[in-house]
Amino acid sequence: MNEHGNHQMTSTKPFLRALHGEIVNPPPCWFMRQAGRYLPEYRELRTQARNFLDFCFTPNLAVEATHQPLRRFDMDAAILFSDILVIPHGLGQDVSFREGEGPVLTPVENVDDLKALDVEAVSARLAPVMETVRQVADGLDDKTALIGFAGAPFTVALYMIEGRGGTEGPNIRRWAAERPGDFGRLIDILCEATSRYLIEQIDNGAEALQLFDSWAGLLPESQFRKWIIEPNRRIVEAVRLVHPDIPIIGFPRNAGVLYRDFVMETGVDGVSIDASVPLAWAASELQSICTVQGNLDNHILLSGGAVLDQEVGRILETLCKGPFIFNLGHGILPPTPPGHLGRVVDLIRNTG
Ligand code: CP3
Repeated sequence: MNEHGNHQMTSTKPFLRALHGEIVNPPPCWFMRQAGRYLPEYRELRTQARNFLDFCFTPNLAVEATHQPLRRFDMDAAILFSDILVIPHGLGQDVSFREGEGPVLTPVENVDDLKALDVEAVSARLAPVMETVRQVADGLDDKTALIGFAGAPFTVALYMIEGRGGTEGPNIRRWAAERPGDFGRLIDILCEATSRYLIEQIDNGAEALQLFDSWAGLLPESQFRKWIIEPNRRIVEAVRLVHPDIPIIGFPRNAGVLYRDFVMETGVDGVSIDASVPLAWAASELQSICTVQGNLDNHILLSGGAVLDQEVGRILETLCKGPFIFNLGHGILPPTPPGHLGRVVDLIRNTG
């Protein structure tokens, strides 16, 4: 049990019960990127910081951003407001976020660049995130769970090597294939830094974790096993050594049929699935081995209307018979009208 006594509440929070394998009706819900630019109050709050990293590292602002969606919608979990790219920043890489352009990093290109990454510096540099975790944990009611998170090593490495998003990862794929020894060193550094960072989040009040491997679907099977399954497995193992009871959700986005091997081999408690996964397949092949989270298409959420109602209905019908957490297949898009999310939450609450 951590200092906030969360362990005791495990049985009462619907989100945690679902992650422990219970069928909860109506199913618990939260939404990837539930805090963010689709909310006018977020855009207003965001003007109070010079840049996005400062925003993440100012506990008052990050705590408020975490709470904003919970005031509007009846959700079962808060997700720490931060970003997966705080880890490269913590390791000493130059990371910035440009308005309308997304993240920009000074690319890691060779072994000398790897040597400059300092795992020992991460904890001190990310201390403000832990202050945010503590404050959010203290401010939640007794039915809402707090999710901590990090990017999984391959996805974080993609931004570190490419220096930006919006690519198909040409450089990381070459590096992983042609210089697996050096690439493995970067993955090792990220496994170590990420495990420690997640353990600290739990120490400070996070009750569950999600590992975002958003670019997992870029890799062929052999590389998927080596650079997606194995690093996720090592982080799960390292966290469980210290916190054996904390539920962990994996998100190897676009993994297709490999979602199943991912779950079997990493030992995650839950798997978040993208919108392309057939619901009947998820019910038979995944819900038999873990809790499934997903998988409403974020573009259909953006559209709203009858097609949204139909999709939500289809998901509930197929996945509510097993352990399930309602979510999206990927994050909320900034132009999404908040009312569309409200409609989804209402539809979920009216079942069961
Ligand atoms: O509400 C939440 O989900 C919590 C906070 C959160 C953010 N990013 C805030 C954010 C979480 C969990 C993330 C994860 C994240 N960040 C991922 C994995 C999930 C995914 O979407 O695939 C990735 C790949 C990133 C990296 C990242 N951060 C990108 C590519 C961008 C730019 C694109 C964009 O949407 O702006 C960011 C910036 C970012 N992270 C914003 C937010 C709210 C927008 C920045 C702003 O408000 O100025």
